[in-house]
Formats: sequence, structure tokens, C-alpha cells
Amino acid sequence: MSSASGQVACVTGAGGFIASWIVKLLLERGYTVRGTVRNPDDQKNAHLRELEGAKERLTLCRADLLDYESLREAINGCDGVFHTASPMTDDPTDHGDGIMFGLKEQMVEPAVIGTKNVIVAAAEAKVRRVVFTSSIGAVYMDPHRSPDAVVDESCWSDLVFCKNTKNWYCYGKAVAEQAAWEEAKERGVDMVAINPVLVLGPLLQPTVNASIIHILKYLTGSAKTYANSVQAYVHVKDVALAHILLFETLSASGRYLCAESMLHRGEVVEILTKFFPEYPIPTKCSDEIKPRAKPYKFSNQRLKDVGLEFTPVKQALHDTVKSLQEKGHIPVPTQNEEPIHIQSA
Ligand SMILES: NC(=O)c1ccc[n+]([C@@H]2O[C@H](COP(=O)([O-])OP(=O)(O)OC[C@H]3O[C@@H](n4cnc5c(N)ncnc54)[C@H](OP(=O)(O)O)[C@@H]3O)[C@@H](O)[C@H]2O)c1
Repeated sequence: MSSASGQVACVTGAGGFIASWIVKLLLERGYTVRGTVRNPDDQKNAHLRELEGAKERLTLCRADLLDYESLREAINGCDGVFHTASPMTDDPTDHGDGIMFGLKEQMVEPAVIGTKNVIVAAAEAKVRRVVFTSSIGAVYMDPHRSPDAVVDESCWSDLVFCKNTKNWYCYGKAVAEQAAWEEAKERGVDMVAINPVLVLGPLLQPTVNASIIHILKYLTGSAKTYANSVQAYVHVKDVALAHILLFETLSASGRYLCAESMLHRGEVVEILTKFFPEYPIPTKCSDEIKPRAKPYKFSNQRLKDVGLEFTPVKQALHDTVKSLQEKGHIPVPTQNEEPIHIQSA
């Protein structure tokens, strides 16, 4: 492990859900941080300035993924880059796997061009390592995989399938990760990629991001039923720490699947109901005809090997709801109160 003191790290899209946690942990570890945001004056980024150590060691730089010069300025002089910025959609359509699809133009171009820009700027700045935030979306979306196969770092999503199903999020993340590997190889940049599954946990930012909506919809009454599908989950603190461990562990290389465990939606609503019976959490599956969807097997061994200890998914679900309450996104039930009935949005 290298010492953090005096090291400068750039985090792209610093105001986002995962990136805010990376900034927080980097500051706690003594790093000097340059966070790129599209608008440093936007109130949605104000929480970053409140983080411990931010006054002394955090600078917010204005940068857009499609503007190379802005990225070059932010990355120049850094020891490391955490490239986390990428378009996420708040398209409320959950297509069963928990990951939202979005529109092609919005999802693919900034993800791919932005990633190339970051790698080129990192090469120019001669940074020690780039940690690239990819996704399970670049890994598992493959209809040809056998149900018994273990999903691990050797798997790639099927681009033709993603295209045909208009799954532009998975398509964009897979193409962006491939572009990152190619550009990094060509320019001699040391890069590692992390592929998180659906990320839950406390929000530092004031707004609700796409993966939190996955849970929020079960608490507000907007989802009347749950889907007959499975989803893997991971706690946001673990995702942020994993990024940093992958930067600090000199021997780390390649891809790292970041997943704690997999639940059927029926199990998710059951856990939520046990913890928070006051909310109008659905009790019925939207598809009671087909057999219950089975979890796929996956391996998170590579991250365990660099020292990551995963937080149990129950804790992640609990922390998510508590945080939504604390940030005022859902009402806080008072004791002995009737169940909460919220008008669907
Ligand atoms: N959350 C998950 O479940 C999950 C799972 C696997 C992988 N990931 C990956 O993790 C990363 C962060 O996700 P998140 O959940 O933290 O999302 P988020 O809260 O929506 O953050 C995304 C960030 O990207 C920035 N961004 C988007 N387009 C940009 C552009 N053209 N130029 C500059 N910045 C841009 C956004 O900036 P603005 O605030 O200005 O829009 C925002 O800060 C993404 O790469 C995502 O694919 C997320």
C-alpha cells in the first residue's frame, strides 16, 4: 500500500452518489482531492464542501465529459484518477433487472467519449493509475450464458443483445469499458476497472439517484407489485472503499466485480416490510404464472483478495431507507401510527 499523504486524486462526477462517497473516504485518508462537477455553484454539489477535510484539501473543478480541455485541466498534476462520471437515467421504467435503459444519445456518447477523454488526459498527466467505474451492466447482460455459469470478471455483456433490446445503459457501459481498456493499453496508462452491481446505502448528495429509486418506489406506493426477477446488491461504502483499495494496492490489475449478494424482489420487499412495516410496500408479484426467477451465481473473490469486507445486503437496505428518511425524501413514521399511505407520483 502507498501512503495517501500528499497524493492528489481526481474524482470525476464528484457530486454523484458513488463519487461523493469516494471523495469522502479519500479526504478521510488524507488525500488532496480535485472533484470535477459540471457546475461547482449548483446547490446539489454543496454537500461536498461540508465533508471533513474539504476546506483544506478539496477543490471543485468545472468539467464536462465531452470537453477534453476541462478534464485535462482537472487531471493535470494528479497521482490518480477515479473516473466515475457517466450518464445515469431517471427513466422510471424498471425493465425487471433493476437497471434503467435510457435513451441512446444520452447514455452512450458521454459514456464512451468521456471515458476516452479521461484516459487521454490521464496519459498526458502521467498519473499512476486510473480506477474506472464500470458496471455489472458491462458484464452480465448475455442471454447465451448457461444458468449454471458463474458470472465473474471474464464475462462481457452481449452488445448485439443490448442493442436489440435497446438497453443503452448496459451497451454504453460495455462499450465505454472496452474503449477505456483499448485507450489505456495504447497510451500506457495503468488502469483497473470496478464493476459494481446495484448500489444502495446512505446518500450524501441531496438528490435521489437512479439506483436508490429502485428501493424508493417500494416505499412510496408507486410500485403496486414487485417484479419476478433477481438483482445483486452492494453497499455504497464498500463500493467507494473498493475504488480506493484498487488504487492503493499496487498489484491490483484488470476487472473487479463488486457484489455482496443477490435477492429476488420478493426477498427485498420482505426485508423492507420487516424493518419498516409502516410503508405501503407491495406484497404481490406482478407475474405469478412463470416460475420464480432464480439467482445467477457470481464471484466477488477478487475484491475479497484485496481486503474488502462486504456489508450484508440487509444493512444496505436498512441504511438506504434511514437515509431517505433523514434527507426528507419519505415521511418518518411516528410510533403507533397507522401505515403510511402516500399518493403515487
Ligand atoms: N448506482 C449504481 O447502482 C451503479 C451500479 C454500477 C455502476 N455504476 C456506475 O457508477 C457511476 C456513478 O453512478 P451513481 O449511481 O453515483 O450516479 P449519479 O449519482 O447519477 O452520478 C453520476 C455522475 O455523473 C455525472 N455526469 C453525467 N454525465 C456527465 C457529463 N456529460 N459530464 C460530466 N459529468 C457527468 C453527473 O453529473 P451531474 O450531477 O452534473 O449530472 C453525476 O455527478 C456511473 O459510472 C455508473 O454507471 C452505478
